[in-house]
Amino acid sequence: MNKDSTAITEPAGKATSKGERKAAKRAALQARNANTRKKRKGAQGKSPPPPPRFTAATADKYELYQLAVQSADLDVKFLDNTYRTLRGRSPRHLREDFCGTSLLCCEWVKLDAQYTAEGYDLDPEPIDWGREHNHSKIGDAAERIELFLADAREAGEHLADVRIAQNFSYWIFQQRAELLDYFRGARAGLADEGIFVIDLYGGTEANAEMTEERKIEEGFTYIWDQDCYYPGSGEFRCFIHFHFSDGSKMKRAFAYEWRFWNLPELKDLLREAGYSRVTPYFEGEDPDHPEEGNGEFEPDERGENCESWIGYLVAEK
Ligand SMILES: C[S@@+](CC[C@H](N)C(=O)[O-])C[C@H]1O[C@@H](n2cnc3c(N)ncnc32)[C@H](O)[C@@H]1O
Repeated sequence: MNKDSTAITEPAGKATSKGERKAAKRAALQARNANTRKKRKGAQGKSPPPPPRFTAATADKYELYQLAVQSADLDVKFLDNTYRTLRGRSPRHLREDFCGTSLLCCEWVKLDAQYTAEGYDLDPEPIDWGREHNHSKIGDAAERIELFLADAREAGEHLADVRIAQNFSYWIFQQRAELLDYFRGARAGLADEGIFVIDLYGGTEANAEMTEERKIEEGFTYIWDQDCYYPGSGEFRCFIHFHFSDGSKMKRAFAYEWRFWNLPELKDLLREAGYSRVTPYFEGEDPDHPEEGNGEFEPDERGENCESWIGYLVAEK
């Protein structure tokens, strides 16, 4: 295992509401931010408009991903609040599996001067990008993050109060035995009273072969592409593309070869892995716009059937 312990970060917190229940909520897959960002003021003078900030030639795919997909500031609040509610005290140490650019680790250590984090990813490219662009922006707090260029199934160096696999990354494990093994290892790596959290995606259109576009306020379009789903095996191939205002495109910026795991089978697997309690959390409704979510996730054993939904599964050691 290669251990990296540097840091760099960027003030991540830009995301907002976590999705809308129906069509837009599909687009919220891997993208829980967007809607409440403030729009930029348009140019008012006579001078020609500035060149677009993002084009296929100039854009950085990790920056686009973070802007379009992640809302790590909201995610860490959910994790922190959920641990406090369940355990009656504050957590300290977070382990982020499949950490990519380790944005979540950065948001975690920003919450409290005593919070520490460790991130695991097999790919050095996002790990390095995260150090340069994310860790660098959080000052001394970055020293409380350790990054490991290693498989998420590796045992850690510290027991975690909160461990998370975010944005469906655990769907990389396509065999039941593989996923069960990962869940067992995750439990073994938890401190007493630790919690393991994975995110969920479902709904009547979750398996549809379709694309969903969403305009991102910073000036580009995010396309979530559910390219291929095989009902017999659960194989699920997805892509993220980005389109730009100058007409250029970044196709297949990210590609995923997954198995689609549904909530009841995940609950069963986590229980089999030894967790004492496994609870789904679904997003509440916005009272003013009942078709939209309110960004608040609450325990709910049954959920509500709709075209597309996201949620969390919280597994207690
Ligand atoms: C969908 S990205 C997740 C990025 C980020 N955590 C997020 O929430 O958006 C999946 C990441 O998992 C990493 N990955 C894939 N298989 C892995 C494994 N077995 N162990 C650790 N990382 C893995 C990939 O390199 C990639 O960076």
